[in-house]
Amino acid sequence: LVAGVDSSTQSCKVVVRDLVTGEVVRTGRASHPEGTSVHPDHWWTALLAAIDDAGGLADVAAISVGGQQHGMVALASDGTVVREALLWNDTRSAQAARDLIAEFGAEELVRRTGLVPVASFTSTKLRWLRDAEPENAAKVAAVALPHDWLTWRLRGYGPAVESPLGPDLEALTTDRSDASGTGYWSPASGEYDRELLVAALGHDAIVPRVIAPDGSAGTVHIDGPTEIVVGPGAGDNAGAALGLGAGEGDVVVSLGTSGTVFAVTPEPVTDASGTIAGFADAAGQYLPIVVTLNAARVLDSATRLLQVDFDALAELALSAEPGAGGVVLVPYFEGERTPNRPDATASLMGLTLASSTRANIARAHVEGMLCGLADGVDAVRARGLDAKRVLLVGGAAFNPAVGKVAAQVFGLPIDIPKPGEYVAMGATVQAAWSLTGEKPQWTVDMETHLEPDLRPAVREQYRAATEQLYA
Ligand code: XUL
Repeated sequence: LVAGVDSSTQSCKVVVRDLVTGEVVRTGRASHPEGTSVHPDHWWTALLAAIDDAGGLADVAAISVGGQQHGMVALASDGTVVREALLWNDTRSAQAARDLIAEFGAEELVRRTGLVPVASFTSTKLRWLRDAEPENAAKVAAVALPHDWLTWRLRGYGPAVESPLGPDLEALTTDRSDASGTGYWSPASGEYDRELLVAALGHDAIVPRVIAPDGSAGTVHIDGPTEIVVGPGAGDNAGAALGLGAGEGDVVVSLGTSGTVFAVTPEPVTDASGTIAGFADAAGQYLPIVVTLNAARVLDSATRLLQVDFDALAELALSAEPGAGGVVLVPYFEGERTPNRPDATASLMGLTLASSTRANIARAHVEGMLCGLADGVDAVRARGLDAKRVLLVGGAAFNPAVGKVAAQVFGLPIDIPKPGEYVAMGATVQAAWSLTGEKPQWTVDMETHLEPDLRPAVREQYRAATEQLYA
C-alpha cells in the first residue's frame, strides 16, 4: 500500500491505495484552523489525526505529502517556527510585491523565476516580514513551504524537545512544483536564485533541497518496525495534475478555496503580464497556471445571502436565463489575485426592479465565479495550448448549476471526474514512484460529460461590468 496526503487550507486528507491496482482502500481526514495566517503546528496535529483516521501506516510502504502552496514557514535555528505562517490567500504583502517589481522589473523576475510577484508568493511574504517584523525576520534561519515542513516533521525532524532527530534544517526537502511558487527558484534552470531570496528576506537562509520527481526524501519508521519511503511531496495543483493523470489537451479547472486553471506542458511558459504563473509540475514538465482567490466560497456566500442550501442554489440558478437578466456578480470577496486587485471587494451589478430576482442573483454568482476562470482558460489557450477539454474538479464542480454554466462560459467539452481527493491521490502516485522507481499509470473515472454550449453574451457582460469598475 502507498499513502498520499493533502494538507490543504481547510483540512488534512489522507488516501491509502493499493500499489498494484491503484484502488483506494482507505481514507482519513481531520480539519484544522483555516484563515490566512495559521500556526503550522495545527497542520501537524491534523496530519497525525488524519493518518489515524485512515487506519495508520503500519501496512504502508511509502508516503508523500502534497499541500497548499506558497505559505511562508519561517524557521529559527532551533527548529521552532518564528511566527504563524502567512498563507497563499493572505494579501498583506501586496505592497512588498510591488516593491520587488519596482526593484527588479517584471520581465527580469519572470525570466529568473517564471513569476511576476503577487501577494500570494513566498518571496513577497518574506519581504513583508523584513519590513513589518524585522526582529522576526532576523531570527529566520530557514524558509520552508507547508508540504516541506510537514515532510520534515514526518521524517522525525523538528524542534529539539518534540522530535527524535532534532532541528536539522539542512535536512529540509521540497520538490520542483512547490519550489516554483516561491519567487526565488527558477523552473527553467532548476536552481534557487539566492540574490532574490536575500532581496526578499534581507539575509541568506537555508532553503529545502529540491528532490527529483522519482527521488525520495528518505525513509522513516512511523508505525512500527517497517521502513516507509517518503516521496518528494508537491504543491497541491501539481499534485492534482498527477492524481488526475492530466495530459496533452487537458485544461484543469479546480474550484476549491482558490480557483485554478492549469495545464501540463513540455516547455516552461512565461508571461510578463503576470496572468499566467510559470510553475513547474511534479513530474518533470511544467504547469502554467492562473489562480483566483474567489472560487467555492462565492457559492458559500450566495447560499448565505439567499438563505438556501447548495441544491436549492443550483435549482434557483438554473431557473434563470444565461446572463441572469443582466445581473453580474464581480466576485472579488477576498480581493483578487488574477487580475491582481488585492484590495478589491465584490460587486453585484446590473440590478433593475425587473432583474433583481433570487434566481438571477443565484445565477450571477455561478457565472461570476466561472467567468474569471474562463479568462484564465483563454489566457492558457492563447499561449498555444491546444485545449481539447476542461477537467472540472474541486468541491464546487459537483453543483449541477456549475457544470452547466461552465459549458456555457468555457466553450469546451467538460469532463467532471468522480469525486475524489485528487491532490492526495497525486501524492500516492509520488509515493509509488519513489518506492518502485516507476510512475504508476493509474486512471481516473469520469462521472459527467458536458458538450460545449458557448453563450458569448455571458462573458461579454461580465467583461463590460469589470471594465466599468476598473476602467
Ligand atoms: C496556487 C495557489 C493555491 C493554493 C491553494 O498558486 O495559491 O492554489 O495552492 O492551496
